[in-house]
Amino acid sequence: MTSLANIFQGIENSALRIRDAVTNEDTDYSAKSNQSGEIQLKLDILSDLIIAEEFSKLPEVKSIASEEKEEEEVLHEDGEFLIAYDPLDGSSLINVNLSVGSIFGIYRGGWSAEKMVASVYVVYGPRTEMVTAYKKQVRHYIYRHGRFKELEQIKLGKRGTLNAPGGTQQNWTKKHKAMVDGLFSDGYRLRYSGGMVPDLHHILLKGGGLFSYPATSDKPLGKLRKLFEVFPFAFVYEMAGGEAIDENGGRLLELPCSDPHETSPCFFGSEYEIGLVKDVYGAN
Ligand code: F6P
Ligand code: MN
Repeated sequence: MTSLANIFQGIENSALRIRDAVTNEDTDYSAKSNQSGEIQLKLDILSDLIIAEEFSKLPEVKSIASEEKEEEEVLHEDGEFLIAYDPLDGSSLINVNLSVGSIFGIYRGGWSAEKMVASVYVVYGPRTEMVTAYKKQVRHYIYRHGRFKELEQIKLGKRGTLNAPGGTQQNWTKKHKAMVDGLFSDGYRLRYSGGMVPDLHHILLKGGGLFSYPATSDKPLGKLRKLFEVFPFAFVYEMAGGEAIDENGGRLLELPCSDPHETSPCFFGSEYEIGLVKDVYGAN
């Protein structure tokens, strides 16, 4: 197997263990917070340990950075790849039995977005699915009868029907609210669970739409973390034929990242909806 195939296999192994933990363990909070100030569930910590344990078996993994860890951790000095991950995104939704996920960005030669070589996410819902973006292909797998079975590749249409607006409306800017309202007036349907992984997966599988997490009055730099959430999904959306931009209209994958826990306002969607964002935010 190539080194990256080993990493994908390591992610599959972690995913099955995390799926079991989500099914069987309780959803108590721990006494700790992560770097972004969110109180960690015991399941966040367990998922983080599972992934670190699986990657520590792979000599190709040089170092890991996790949403749940303060600092990067070197695993194998001679390894080729760096992996940033969010072990259990949306974990506060587990006790109401909504879908959650794991997100991985795989880099070679440094943590900057242009060094990303692949990204992967896993959705834990009624079914467990995995999506990999690598070499211009977005592959979709479903866990069925004891193995991940490959389905059709994912491609976004030029224009979709779904609108997933993140953050609290009260804290949106006027222009952002006008844009979201404009989409609804145009027939777009609201699809927002509050879990980034299922919400972005939903748009990808239904052919397109817009997911936005803008700069808000309470979070002027957005909420979603570049390394653990924003870059990996930007990579998937671009490879699926969509676009992923910030509020200035620039590609998310060209943003610098000086701290692993840094955030950015972000917009993911198909060509038409991203064009609208650029019009409203003045980037066109
Ligand atoms: O990890 C952050 C997260 O839980 C994402 O999964 C999700 O997209 C976002 O927060 C939801 O935030 P809000 O409730 O502010 O829309
Ligand atoms: Mn998250």
